[in-house]
Amino acid sequence: MSQTNEGRRKPRRAKKFRSQILAKWLIENFEPCRVADIGGGKGLLSYLLIKNGWKSVVIDPEDQLLPTKYTSLEKKKVKISDEDNDLVTRINEPFSKEMAKGFDLLVGLHAHGSNMLIIDACKEYDKDFLLIPCCVIDEPVIKEYGINWRESLVEYAESKGFLVKKEKLNFMGKDIAIYSFNNLKPIKTLK
Ligand SMILES: C[S@@+](CC[C@H](N)C(=O)[O-])C[C@H]1O[C@@H](n2cnc3c(N)ncnc32)[C@H](O)[C@@H]1O
Repeated sequence: MSQTNEGRRKPRRAKKFRSQILAKWLIENFEPCRVADIGGGKGLLSYLLIKNGWKSVVIDPEDQLLPTKYTSLEKKKVKISDEDNDLVTRINEPFSKEMAKGFDLLVGLHAHGSNMLIIDACKEYDKDFLLIPCCVIDEPVIKEYGINWRESLVEYAESKGFLVKKEKLNFMGKDIAIYSFNNLKPIKTLK
């Protein structure tokens, strides 16, 4: 009996690749823009975007250092040099709506306490958002049995008039991006 890979799902990457995978998806599909990397933690997503010609600022109340190295999607260990350390600007404060003003795209990659506020800010200032929600921690709602947090965020955004799309990014854990882009420009592919 012959075996075929058709119909088989690609294996999911480890969770530690989430920033690399999201950066690649954005870079390959959209023109560079100004990103607020909300709840950005150590700042690897911002670093990867900046190295590829995007602008990105980490907004996170916890001051954290960039990692000294990371593993690329090609499984190579890549060092982050001391000079590159200064590439990522940080705002070490909790996200507030007015911070959205200087950006085009608000990203929350497993961000805590700011997903609903990101949607509110995008409504108020006509910005785009991309969220990969993980948990309800510090949000202005309480986790309820049988209610899916990601889907409730989709409903919340839709109730504010956003057209929400989804993208499965194929890493372990919460890997579904929900996004609404009105301003981001897709990269035109040559026919
Ligand atoms: C699970 S970590 C995710 C870090 C990073 N995005 C990643 O995927 O590695 C959640 C981050 O949200 C940050 N955070 C918590 N409350 C926040 C708030 N109100 N505004 C912005 N960031 C917040 C935490 O300090 C933490 O770095």
